[in-house]
Amino acid sequence: MKFLKAAPLGRLPTSKWQQLTIRQTWTCTSCLSSCSPRRFTTSLPRLSSSITDSQSKKPYYVTTPIFYVNAAPHIGHMYSMTLADVLKRYQETLHSRPAILLTGTDEHGMKIQQAASNKDMHPKQFCDETAEQFKELAAAAQISHNRFIRTTDPDHVQAVEHFWFLLQEKGLIYESKHEGWYSVSDEAFYPESQIEKKMDAFTGEVYMASCESGSKVEWVEERNYHFRMTALRERLLRFYAENPGWVVPAKRMSDVVDWVENHLTDLSISRPVNRLSWGIRVPGDATQTIYVWVDALINYITAAGFPNWQPGRREVGGWPADVHVIGKDIVRFHCVYWPALLLALDLPMPKKVLTHAHWTMNRTKMSKSLGNVVNPMYVMNVHGADVLRFYLMFEGGIGNDADYSNDNLLVKHKKYLQGGVGNLVSRITRSKLWDLREIVARSPRGRIEFPENNLATLPATVDKHMQNLDPVSAIRAIMEVVTQANALLSEIEPWRLIKSTTQEDHDLAHEMVYLAAESLRICGILLQPFLPTKAGQLLDMLGVAPENRTFKNTEIFSDPSYGEAIINPGKSREDSLFPALYQGLQAAEEKLRTVKKERKAAKKRQWKAQKGKEVDEWWKPEAGAEKS
Ligand code: MSP
Repeated sequence: MKFLKAAPLGRLPTSKWQQLTIRQTWTCTSCLSSCSPRRFTTSLPRLSSSITDSQSKKPYYVTTPIFYVNAAPHIGHMYSMTLADVLKRYQETLHSRPAILLTGTDEHGMKIQQAASNKDMHPKQFCDETAEQFKELAAAAQISHNRFIRTTDPDHVQAVEHFWFLLQEKGLIYESKHEGWYSVSDEAFYPESQIEKKMDAFTGEVYMASCESGSKVEWVEERNYHFRMTALRERLLRFYAENPGWVVPAKRMSDVVDWVENHLTDLSISRPVNRLSWGIRVPGDATQTIYVWVDALINYITAAGFPNWQPGRREVGGWPADVHVIGKDIVRFHCVYWPALLLALDLPMPKKVLTHAHWTMNRTKMSKSLGNVVNPMYVMNVHGADVLRFYLMFEGGIGNDADYSNDNLLVKHKKYLQGGVGNLVSRITRSKLWDLREIVARSPRGRIEFPENNLATLPATVDKHMQNLDPVSAIRAIMEVVTQANALLSEIEPWRLIKSTTQEDHDLAHEMVYLAAESLRICGILLQPFLPTKAGQLLDMLGVAPENRTFKNTEIFSDPSYGEAIINPGKSREDSLFPALYQGLQAAEEKLRTVKKERKAAKKRQWKAQKGKEVDEWWKPEAGAEKS
């Protein structure tokens, strides 16, 4: 009987990695694979989980803002979508909790009416075209939405009309003359105190603009309907006081409270139809169109089944939402107007509002008129969805704006994906010097202590960040562990040790490979919400069974069954998990041409198949028709 002896601690090089200690017991090699289940005495933290009511019938419900269809989607829109998607996938994939993700388009209002008229198009036709682009973006970015809502959908129109009717029944709507500054771009009225004079740097035109958003405003005087929002002032303030963590990050809550305390007025909630015809008519008054923000906000409950909620079954549709993901520019609409509308009807509040910062380009806000918007479809066509998702999540700002740059994307990809995760996968799964399955099967018995912030604490760290709605910190923590694992391998060089003639070197080499494999397995599981395709491939390369990819499986040593690749990890640089990106413009364009060609060919094939079907089937009598 042959025994493996523990590697003495003194063999680890003097470095920060000395914090890692392995104390191994004597192990019989002949019974290595049958020694399960194993019990390890470790100082690992217990995995806490953000799920307390996973058994409850309410699905986790997360929403994105619905996007204006006046222009094509850009990187900022994809950012809102990806944040929401990561939150949803985290619950669904890692915690096996039923989850709903809602996204869609905001199609009514003056902004869309004007954009359609500029193109000489009927607004609905105009909306159909741009809504399609947002759907394509969601599909290309692998957004796992359960519904793509459009405010022109009939069930939404019905929900808005019903909502209006209920507000009216409660006596919260009145008619009066309204005058004020209106911004078509923001679709919002602003008080006189928040207006300033501005000059267009290019044309020299002087105009009035909102101090807050910088958008042009116009003076409007008209008769319309008002929502008695001031009647809800005290209830709003009480709600904020009782829920200090409702707005994330907390720093944005003070503006909300300040607004309600100092600037709250009744809200003008309709426009005369001769000014705004593209929208939902006020029930019972065809001369007025409902204000687009009231229309838009209601989408969140339309999708959850309002107004057809059966008694006691409201939660089945998801409401109240667990989190609304929104950009910082639309905080007031979601954190003042929306809760006021919900309070008015005694409906439950969304549980959290995650407000993110913006992407800028050369430190300037992206805007179509400045021509500095990044087209996410272009980036994804060239680099793939996961690369852009990674970049947005890793570099994106929740509290502070982030500056988008293609060069930075290449740098981060090279450092963390190609040189980090990809390199680690290749090192572990491609080597002929060891058999990963065998190493996993006889993973070390004994006591292992990991340095602070390392692999053993990673799942709890990630879970905490995700509970705090901070996917950016979560993905950064994962990447730190990947970097550490690579550094450890470079330091210990198991590929060199394994060629040594001593048993101790062999054992240490195996320990290192196992530790790196565990890092990959655990990081791979935790990366699934962020990189749905690549993380799946990584786990396939490691041979992790599909049923062992949840949060429960992120405890170190918890899976003795992997190690046999489900998909081939490849051999060359080109077929690695994260090959080098196309850096030269020429190469990028070449790739884009190929993608376009492939798409065209696929469409043609689809069309031909459809045609073929029609030709094959035209002679078939329709159901119920007589045969001639
Ligand atoms: N239609 C409204 C939302 C109604 S929700 C009931 C709207 N639409 S939008 O198309 O203008 O913006 C949609 C989202 O994209 C917002 O959350 C906005 O903050 C986000 N972004 C728009 N530009 C952005 C960046 N440059 N960076 C990050 N996100 C930004 O507002």
